[in-house]
Amino acid sequence: PRPILLTRHGESRDNVRGRIGGDSVLSDTGEIYMKKLANFVEKRLKNERTASIWTSTLQRTILTASPIVGFPKIQWRALDEINAGVCDGMTYEEIKKNMPEEYESRKKDKLRYRYPRGESYLDVIQRLEPVIIELERQRAPVVVISHQAVLRALYAYFADRPLKEIPHIEVPLHTIIEIKMGVTGVQEKRYKLMD
Ligand code: F6P
Repeated sequence: PRPILLTRHGESRDNVRGRIGGDSVLSDTGEIYMKKLANFVEKRLKNERTASIWTSTLQRTILTASPIVGFPKIQWRALDEINAGVCDGMTYEEIKKNMPEEYESRKKDKLRYRYPRGESYLDVIQRLEPVIIELERQRAPVVVISHQAVLRALYAYFADRPLKEIPHIEVPLHTIIEIKMGVTGVQEKRYKLMD
């Protein structure tokens, strides 16, 4: 069965500052992951004739993919992180302090909550449909380098997890989730490349 490798980008400067959204570059730690991932992918796909690397259109995923050579790379806007609208670039603390009602509504119903001028998890799930169709169609392995909210939704689709769990699924940084779809169902393996 062909594998799908899911990973978040390497740690970004905004991750370090606790800022959501944005389009920052990688931190020093993120750059170490970038190199480890390239190494891992190279070994993992050594015997594959074809494969492709999918990223979002945001710098942090494109940079994370940059040292991987020998496979075509495709940028999908649909793989961009959840759009936090007016909260883009803020920390959770700042949202709690400056927009307490927004903070509370999100906490109450994280799946359906839509950031003002941004998106909800349900919006993200909907825009991922073409990506999922294309992933299902692939015969060769695909490495998907994306973001926390988007990968929660993608993972939930393949692991058959209920909708209401999606916003709470753990998708840590610097970890590769390998999904293999065979006749007997879906197999999953996690590779933690850094502490
Ligand atoms: O903090 C990293 C990040 O990818 C943000 O850009 C994004 O808003 C957030 O995670 C999504 O996670 P949650 O839905 O738990 O806020």
